[in-house]
Amino acid sequence: MNDYAFELRDVVHERQKRMVLHHITLKLRAGRPTCLIGSSGSGKTSFLRLLNRLESPVSGEILFKGQPIEQYPVRQLRTRVGFAFQAPAMFEGTVTDNLLMAARFANGKITQSDRDRVSEALALADLNDSYADRDADQLSGGERQRVALARTLMSKPEVLLLDEPTSALDPKSGARLVDALKKLAHAGVTVIMATHRLEEGEVLGGDTIVFEAGRVVEHREARPDATSEVTHV
Ligand SMILES: Nc1ncnc2c1ncn2[C@@H]1O[C@H](COP(=O)(O)OP(=O)(O)OP(=O)(O)O)[C@@H](O)[C@H]1O
Ligand SMILES: [Mg+2]
Repeated sequence: MNDYAFELRDVVHERQKRMVLHHITLKLRAGRPTCLIGSSGSGKTSFLRLLNRLESPVSGEILFKGQPIEQYPVRQLRTRVGFAFQAPAMFEGTVTDNLLMAARFANGKITQSDRDRVSEALALADLNDSYADRDADQLSGGERQRVALARTLMSKPEVLLLDEPTSALDPKSGARLVDALKKLAHAGVTVIMATHRLEEGEVLGGDTIVFEAGRVVEHREARPDATSEVTHV
């Protein structure tokens, strides 16, 4: 088994011909949460987008489970590496329709076990069953973020990429969502989350990567016994 979910080797990423990530070399451990922090525009979202090939770097190499990321069929990769966007678009229909569409994307069909999983996926994303029949188009920003998370969970991803998943939530709902993520992490899902709220990283535990103007300036690895080791790069 490969202990690392991802390995980046000298990765340079540009958007609109401007360098947004500068020579990133690091490894992200499997089965351990990682928080990405850094000021607005420092490159957190860009980094996440590389990890399930929403974008590709201009140079360098990204390995997923020890293999170059481009060797995985995109659909398989995105099933194994789920992404819950910050401002997700909803498919037409109910919340349940949205979740089942995600299952169909992952497996090409919808099975009874997918239907049975809807309620569990909603609960994991801190949504109660009353949401199942709601029109997805009429949800608030925070509700959409949680539906996007539930949708991603339908395909049982090994890695969960989250871009400021609590940014549209009130503090209490945000804290509940982070608890839910912690449970997923304990269940073995590799949670990689960009956040501006430092306390969320503390609750989640795990490693922290600090971005500054497209560079990784610190990669703090939590030891299993919860004492921290600071690595400056
Ligand atoms: N679609 C885009 N086209 C061109 N440049 C972009 C695009 N999106 C982001 N950028 C630029 O890439 C850099 C990194 O942005 P990114 O969105 O990764 O930052 P971030 O750390 O996620 O910020 P925030 O905390 O505001 O979400 C910024 O300079 C930004 O202007
Ligand atoms: Mg961002």
